[in-house]
Amino acid sequence: MLKVFIRPLQAEDYRISYKWRNDPDIWKYTGSHPDVLITPELEKEWLHKVIKLHNQIRFAICVNDDHEYIGNIQLTDIKDRKAQYHIFIGEKKYWGKGIATQATKLLLEYGVKKAKLSEIYLYVQKNNIAAIRLYIKCGFTYKIEDEQQIMMIYKHG
Ligand SMILES: CC(C)(COP(=O)(O)OP(=O)(O)OC[C@H]1O[C@@H](n2cnc3c(N)ncnc32)[C@H](O)[C@@H]1OP(=O)(O)O)[C@@H](O)C(=O)NCCC(=O)NCCS
Repeated sequence: MLKVFIRPLQAEDYRISYKWRNDPDIWKYTGSHPDVLITPELEKEWLHKVIKLHNQIRFAICVNDDHEYIGNIQLTDIKDRKAQYHIFIGEKKYWGKGIATQATKLLLEYGVKKAKLSEIYLYVQKNNIAAIRLYIKCGFTYKIEDEQQIMMIYKHG
C-alpha cells in the first residue's frame, strides 16, 4: 500500500497545483471548476488568500517517502462544529490506488479530534461513481438528493 500523508497547504504549492486547474478530466464531475486558463500567478494569488482564512483548513495530499504532492483535500465553511469536505487528486496516475480513501480517513480524524467537528458534509454529482464509492467506504451516508447531486454527511460517533 502507498504511504499517504496530509499536511497543511503551503503558499509555494501553487507551483504544482496550477497545472491541475487546467485539466478538464479532474473537474468533469465537480461542482465548481475553472472556466479560464489558470496561470501560476492566478493560482498563487488565490492560494495566498485562502490559506489565511479562518473558516477553512486546506491540506496537501502527499505520497511516498519523498512526500510527493499529488492533490488537495479540505474542510471549508467551518461553523457551529460543522464543515464542508472537498477532495481532488491532481496527479491522475494515482487515481484508483486507494489514496483518496486513506487521505479522507486522515482528514475525518483531524476534523473530529483536532477541529472538534460533530458533522462533516459534502455535495457530489450523481454520476461521480468513484467519489460516491469513496464516501460510502469512509462512513458518509446519504442525506438529501436532487436530480443531479447528493448531499452526504459524516457524523462522529
Ligand atoms: C474521486 C477521487 C478523489 C477518487 O480518488 P481515488 O484515490 O482514485 O479513490 P480510491 O482509489 O480511494 O477509490 C475509492 C473508491 O472508488 C472506486 N473507484 C476509483 N476509481 C473509479 C472509477 N474510475 N470508476 C468506478 N469506481 C472507481 C474504487 O474502486 C474505490 O471503491 P472500492 O474500494 O469499493 O472498489 C479521484 O478520482 C479524483 O480526484 N477525481 C477528480 C476530482 C473529483 O471528482 N473530486 C470529488 C468531487 S465530489
